[in-house]
Amino acid sequence: MNFSDLVLKNRSYRRFDQSVRIPREFLVSLVGLARISPSPANLQALKFWLVSDAEECEQVFKNVKFGGYLKDWGGPIEGERPSGYIIILGDNEIKPIFEIDAGIAAQTMLLGATEQGFGGCMVKAFKRESLREVLGLSENLEIVLVIALGKPAEISLIEDFDEVKGIEYYRNVVGVHHVPKRTLDELIVH
Ligand SMILES: Cc1cc2nc3c(=O)[nH]c(=O)nc-3n(C[C@H](O)[C@H](O)[C@H](O)COP(=O)(O)O)c2cc1C
Repeated sequence: MNFSDLVLKNRSYRRFDQSVRIPREFLVSLVGLARISPSPANLQALKFWLVSDAEECEQVFKNVKFGGYLKDWGGPIEGERPSGYIIILGDNEIKPIFEIDAGIAAQTMLLGATEQGFGGCMVKAFKRESLREVLGLSENLEIVLVIALGKPAEISLIEDFDEVKGIEYYRNVVGVHHVPKRTLDELIVH
């Protein structure tokens, strides 16, 4: 797959074939990609919590929310839930703000997952305190972003944004996910 195709295929997936498990070693290999990615002042303040065990996945699942724009959808049902998670943590003993670092790490890891036939979704809508408790995190570690992973079991297509439809992603009658993207003309201001 060339790079443009990889970026195109790397959509946010929220429904998976849950029977396909993600080995911990694969998650470790994705963190290996984040490890060699850029880091402000090379401080490398991110830490990673890996979840591949089915029981542990269930605990994390209870603390994340998928597809806020899909009002008639309550999230993936049993059988189509993520089979792995990488929880990106920030170590506040190293620095206080992690958003850019986490974005770089997340996208890099998702591209790596997509290249290997998996896919996922960044999740910022997590229950911070409850998830913290589930993980039993030490004081210095803050949850920055959750990456849900699995074998995608849905199709996601991008389309040009228009004023009438707006920016909200939606599913068509046969369940194909559509994501409006603003056109290059709108993005490039000079
Ligand atoms: C920082 C960040 C946080 C996100 N948080 C959530 C989330 O909590 N739940 C969710 O279902 N999708 C989440 N998404 C996925 C976005 O909804 C998705 O990127 C957007 O709809 C565009 O779709 P695409 O990634 O397929 O291009 C998040 C994306 C980013 C970049």
